[in-house]
Amino acid sequence: MNSFQNCLLSFIFCLAYSLAASAQALTYNKDIAPIIRQNCASCHKPGEAAPFSLLTYEDVVKRTTFIKKVIQDRYMPPWKADNGYRHFANDRSLSDETIQKLVSWIDQQVPRGRHASASSLAKPVLKETNYYRKPDLYLQPDSAFLVKGENIDRFVIFKIPFALPDSANVEAIEFISNNKKLIHHANFAIHPVDDSVDIENAVKRIDLTVGDRRQYGQYLPFRKKISYYGGWIPGTSIESYPENFGWVFPKRGVMLLTVHYSPTAKDTEVISGVNFFFTKRSISRRVKVISFGSGGIGEKDIQPSFTFIPPNKVSKFTLDVTNPSEDQSVLYIWPHMHLLGKEFRAYAISPEADTIPLVHIPQWDFRWQEIYRVEKLIKVPRGSVIHIEGDYDNTADNPMNPNDPPEGIFSWGDMKTNQEMLTLILVFLPYKKGDEALDINVKN
Ligand code: HEC
Repeated sequence: MNSFQNCLLSFIFCLAYSLAASAQALTYNKDIAPIIRQNCASCHKPGEAAPFSLLTYEDVVKRTTFIKKVIQDRYMPPWKADNGYRHFANDRSLSDETIQKLVSWIDQQVPRGRHASASSLAKPVLKETNYYRKPDLYLQPDSAFLVKGENIDRFVIFKIPFALPDSANVEAIEFISNNKKLIHHANFAIHPVDDSVDIENAVKRIDLTVGDRRQYGQYLPFRKKISYYGGWIPGTSIESYPENFGWVFPKRGVMLLTVHYSPTAKDTEVISGVNFFFTKRSISRRVKVISFGSGGIGEKDIQPSFTFIPPNKVSKFTLDVTNPSEDQSVLYIWPHMHLLGKEFRAYAISPEADTIPLVHIPQWDFRWQEIYRVEKLIKVPRGSVIHIEGDYDNTADNPMNPNDPPEGIFSWGDMKTNQEMLTLILVFLPYKKGDEALDINVKN
């Protein structure tokens, strides 16, 4: 080929390319499938939380009017954190550009495109785990739980004792369930228990919904120490740690698994549990959990006293607590309120009076709780004051208000949905020099 031909060929190529770009011929296979797979399919697939799948072209075109509305309203994908206050690594909100792309494609009558490349097809879903290998330990209750079709929210705590040959280093954890559609969220605490306490003792589960809450006293002996506290909300997959980070699974103890089931009209059996993945590698960076506010440090110092939320008004509660012991590097930030929650904000003030933004949720939504993962570790120096504030809307304007007309809400730091909490949980490590610059993105 001479240089003239070469030039001509590339000219034609360039021309074709620019024509295609200006016509904006968006097709499902080329442009849309990757967006849906990346941003929607984690929940919109069989076995996950959303009510329908979005894995195929047919699934998507059936619902384009609806999809256009929910993405323009930013209702989907759900993401409640104020990205201007702090941007998190697990941000799943769509950029304006992506929204525009989806909308244009819908407006152009959803062209499919010629070839379905292999990569646009859904990956097979493994039933037992989404991790790359089998779990080393799986903890679940003895039997499935029958969620009665009474159309009410239900809160149940399961006690799952365990005894292993030895303690083990944890590299990843994963909540699993045979029916995630029925689960609002779940939390699990791993408690090491001394040999002197019988871990088989006490009821196997407590259904907080039907009022046998006093039985909770039976679990108190297990709760003296805690190794780790994890959680799941729709869309959450695996929590895993950077190399050499992790926590130690105790040899003997109890897992307390709290599951919040959504209302259902049909009796449904649900079984849920937690997969643990161990590693032989040593852990040089121990991950720890600290909880502030209701059920944690400073509960009694919330201002005004967090025991009563008056009806027919919006009330603000705040808590200032000093980070007691050591410089921390924060890895996950987990704000928590219940149905009356309206806005949540947390930041730290360092001893040098610098403000360290932690998290801001401008429009709290009980349904979309999140464990926010930082992009880079955040240093919170020893002696910093952690400031937490929550606004609670106990008026008839709050569609989530459990009472109509609104009633005063008593809060005892209990876990019932129709009571309230103001809690900030931090997953952190003792700070080491250089942590702020560390690459902590692990991909599974
Ligand atoms: C974190 C999980 C999650 C992600 C990610 C997600 N969805 Fe959803 N979606 C849900 C759940 C759960 C529901 C049903 C509950 C609801 O409507 O609040 C839902 C409902 C919907 C609905 C019906 C809304 C209604 O009012 O009934 C549409 C349409 C939808 N999603 C589209 C999408 C699209 C498009 C994406 C990606 C751009 C997406 N979703 C990403 C979990 C998710």
